[in-house]
Amino acid sequence: MKKFFLLAAVSLAAAQAAHAADIKKGEDLVNKGGCIACHGAGMDKPIAPNYPKLAGQYQSYLFHALQQYQAKHQTPLYGRNNAIMSGMVAQYNTQDLQDIAAYIASLKGDLYIRDEMH
Ligand code: HEC
Repeated sequence: MKKFFLLAAVSLAAAQAAHAADIKKGEDLVNKGGCIACHGAGMDKPIAPNYPKLAGQYQSYLFHALQQYQAKHQTPLYGRNNAIMSGMVAQYNTQDLQDIAAYIASLKGDLYIRDEMH
């Protein structure tokens, strides 16, 4: 029961932050996208020390990072320069990136420092 309320609170917070970002859809996209192959189980156990932990990062930050990789893919003079991630995000639209960011932000990893009221 407590788990349900926690989940509801997290979903609500995420939906308010990013115009109805869909956490469930984000989960599907992450699973189908093979993201855990590098970022690890729960997006919290990267396979290499120089690969970032993502679970529990702020949604707005994750969305911005994903958009920056995409910008690089589209216009080489702008955005974050990482061939792997630019390739990974090329297939998604802006709403997809919002949903992905909302899902990853909802995961309780080491970086998840907010309480459920936030
Ligand atoms: C082949 C390995 C690989 C796969 C698969 C992969 N990533 Fe990454 N990801 C990386 C690496 C390496 C970085 C760090 C890149 C850099 O230095 O900018 C990164 C960075 C990121 C960042 C930025 C993190 C930060 O703190 O700035 C996000 C967000 C991200 N990945 C999300 C995803 C998502 C979502 C997927 C699946 C659609 C995915 N990644 C699949 C290797 C991967």
